[in-house]
Amino acid sequence: MDLYEYQAKTLFDAHEVPVTAGEVCVTPDAAHEVARKIGGPVVVKAQVKTGGRGKAGGVKLADTPDDAQARATDILGMDIKGHTVHRVLVTEATDIAEEYYVSFLLDRANRAFLAMASVEGGVEIEEVAATRPEALALVRVDAIDGVDAAKARDIVDQAGFPANIRDEVTNVLVRLWDVLVKEDATLVEVNPLVLTADGRVLALDGKVTLDDNAHYRHASHADLVDREGTDPIELRAKELDLNYVKLDGEVGVVGNGAGLVMSTLDVVAYAGEQFGGIRPANFLDIGGGASAEIMANGLDIVLNDPDVYAVFVNVFGGITACDAVADGIVQAVEMLAARGEPITKPIVCRIDGNNAEEGRRILTDFNHPLVEMVQTMDDAARRVAELAAAGRDGSAS
Ligand SMILES: Nc1ncnc2c1ncn2[C@@H]1O[C@H](COP(=O)(O)OP(=O)(O)OP(=O)(O)O)[C@@H](O)[C@H]1O
Ligand SMILES: [Mg+2]
Repeated sequence: MDLYEYQAKTLFDAHEVPVTAGEVCVTPDAAHEVARKIGGPVVVKAQVKTGGRGKAGGVKLADTPDDAQARATDILGMDIKGHTVHRVLVTEATDIAEEYYVSFLLDRANRAFLAMASVEGGVEIEEVAATRPEALALVRVDAIDGVDAAKARDIVDQAGFPANIRDEVTNVLVRLWDVLVKEDATLVEVNPLVLTADGRVLALDGKVTLDDNAHYRHASHADLVDREGTDPIELRAKELDLNYVKLDGEVGVVGNGAGLVMSTLDVVAYAGEQFGGIRPANFLDIGGGASAEIMANGLDIVLNDPDVYAVFVNVFGGITACDAVADGIVQAVEMLAARGEPITKPIVCRIDGNNAEEGRRILTDFNHPLVEMVQTMDDAARRVAELAAAGRDGSAS
């Protein structure tokens, strides 16, 4: 889970990474009030989970509370790369002497963490990495050893920080490492880390990605979940513990096993080309030993997506045999009817693998007008694309 800047800075503050005072606001009036409390020039910053906010006009200086209110009025509701601004951070403006870059991230390929640091911060670090790679220090951090003062000093020296702020930056790095470890983050980035005119080192921006697998260890992280910024169907799927990702097509996809679902997306997109560009509407992996209830929850999620016109249930029976899966589909359809939400969209099933014949017999006997069975994955993809196209074109006319 990626955090907003204001949330990242709250974590920074809790681990004593120096940040400027500030508060998040959802209205211009609130921005006025916060600016008044801060009592000096402030910066009004769009809170969106994307980079380049400054360039897009989402970071503005305001000298007075009235000014802050006006800037908040401009920025709230703005669209930055497809993200609507619902909140602004109003924070103390800083007299900046220098801008730097520091980060720690999980380096999966090398089974370690990576520290990155540069005295050329403030700008997009990807650009520094591409055009002046020598200006970006990359230092491997062993997961067990972590970052103590000596390691932090090594990073500071490799990046070439000036001697007079070596201790401050070392301290910031040790504390940022603390954020990464204690909060179970996979990324902690500060761009810019600044040296102020009066000689302080401060984090003016913050980006943190938390490891969702460690969510259970942090009761407080539940408050960081961004409900309005998350797709409502994804939110619901998460509550049901389903592996769901919303996509932008018309065919709902349910399968068992991530690999099978990935290839199902491909065959649906391929088959859909013949039907005016029909595409998968989602990724949903119900996992290996899916019970009828999980199947029902999965179908429920996918069928409730207004973009979906037809559903492809693609199952390969392994440990869970096909007859159990077929029972699951039947029970799911019945369960939804019992809940008062009978299915209204066609479902195309392809089941193969362990006990496939028995599974197919169960679905044949079920004989539901909206549930079809197709033998092969390619044929099923073609059929579901055809049904989705008919549904879409029917609803358009
Ligand atoms: N509190 C502040 N006081 C003075 N200047 C600031 C302050 N916060 C940000 N700035 C200036 O605005 C620039 C952009 O701010 P920031 O890094 O937060 O956003 P961004 O880089 O545009 O967004 P992103 O990091 O999402 O790409 C900073 O590099 C800095 O020069
Ligand atoms: Mg930045």
